[in-house]
Amino acid sequence: MSEKRLTIDYEEFSSVSEMDPKDQELCRAAIEAQKGSYSPYSHFQVGAALLLANGVVVKGANQENAAYPSGLCAERSAMFWAGANYPDIPMDTLAIAGSDHGVLCESPASPCGACRQVMAEYQKKHGKPMKIILVGSKRIRKFGCVDDLLPFIFDSLSM
Ligand code: THU
Repeated sequence: MSEKRLTIDYEEFSSVSEMDPKDQELCRAAIEAQKGSYSPYSHFQVGAALLLANGVVVKGANQENAAYPSGLCAERSAMFWAGANYPDIPMDTLAIAGSDHGVLCESPASPCGACRQVMAEYQKKHGKPMKIILVGSKRIRKFGCVDDLLPFIFDSLSM
């Protein structure tokens, strides 16, 4: 037996203005994307802005349904749209912003497990790290690749 330790590095900012201009723009796009949220049940509005390697920014927002499991998270709505419309373009950076009853969370909302799994698959498909930015009003976290949010990823090699 040997004990192992896993550590992750990420950057934390206290304001969007501390970030580089491209990231600032993407954070603002994620907040803007919340306007597309359909969340009459949770009143939690999530916006996602996905920067593709060709410079296109794809926006997504959570879509809820009276049959709860039929809804979809903001991150997957953006990634699936990009996957369907730009199948060969790597996904460079995904910014995510969550608001509770219209108020941006101080500490950023973190993506659910299903969204992390989908991020991992697209990252592997394109062979390029997908950066993740979690936007809150008091803290913004930036991760260099999906592995930092989902270690020991299940992928086709596991089958
Ligand atoms: N939600 C997202 O859009 N992304 C996540 O990663 C976590 C949760 C949405 C789903 C649901 O509409 C609402 O937030 C409350 O769970």
